[in-house]
Amino acid sequence: MSVVSKILVRKDIEGLSAAAAERLVEFANAAIDSRGSFAVALAGGNTPRELYRLLASNQYRTAVDWNRVSVVLGDERNVPPDSPESNFRMVSEELLRPLGIDENNSFRWLTEPGDPAAIAARYEELLRAKFPFDLVLLGLGSDAHTASLYPHTDALHETKRLAVANWVEKLNDYRFTMTFPVINAASNVMFLVSGSEKADAVATVLEGEFSPDEYPAQLVKPVDGDLLWLLDEAAASSLQGP
Ligand code: 6PG
Repeated sequence: MSVVSKILVRKDIEGLSAAAAERLVEFANAAIDSRGSFAVALAGGNTPRELYRLLASNQYRTAVDWNRVSVVLGDERNVPPDSPESNFRMVSEELLRPLGIDENNSFRWLTEPGDPAAIAARYEELLRAKFPFDLVLLGLGSDAHTASLYPHTDALHETKRLAVANWVEKLNDYRFTMTFPVINAASNVMFLVSGSEKADAVATVLEGEFSPDEYPAQLVKPVDGDLLWLLDEAAASSLQGP
């Protein structure tokens, strides 16, 4: 078991996104050079928007052969794909469409109204075909959730399924999410966290007592991969350690 856990702090969201873009391009080119393809699970939410824009900008769009990249969404909200809440919609607008990554290489959760368990089971098939991932990108909630692995939810204890419909009481809704076995099998896992409202969660996950039902992101421990926490100064501001 070799977990290399590293923390990198940048001034602000711009610096954070630039550092993330550099690494993503590096991981992508290494995988493409060695195996001909790169598989990445992307995060939703707001924080990675800037990173996705950057990757689609003139600075990076030619840095990777995007035809060899396949993209899945690590988690999704229980909304149709055209909803402003949809992670796929955000990723599509900021990254997939601008880079011309089409439906042969980008896979969304089929969240059209239906049985949540069946939606997850379909995505599990897809994940299995791409598994394990070269890179899993993650965000962190101020309650220490990551992907849609919320505190005190059933999905935290999943050891076999790769994708589940996770009932989240405080949202009064399902979230669709990859599970820890997917995250922890990746070659690289990268957290992207910005803003002072995340500072306490970052400190608790990294330096607090181990209490994973309360702080699910503590369960991110790649079995044989590297773990990188990319923080801006505000998100790192409650850390005690060096
Ligand atoms: C989602 C996520 C989730 C997110 C965190 C942080 O669908 O919301 O994938 O895990 O990464 O909640 O969200 P922000 O970046 O918006 O703060």
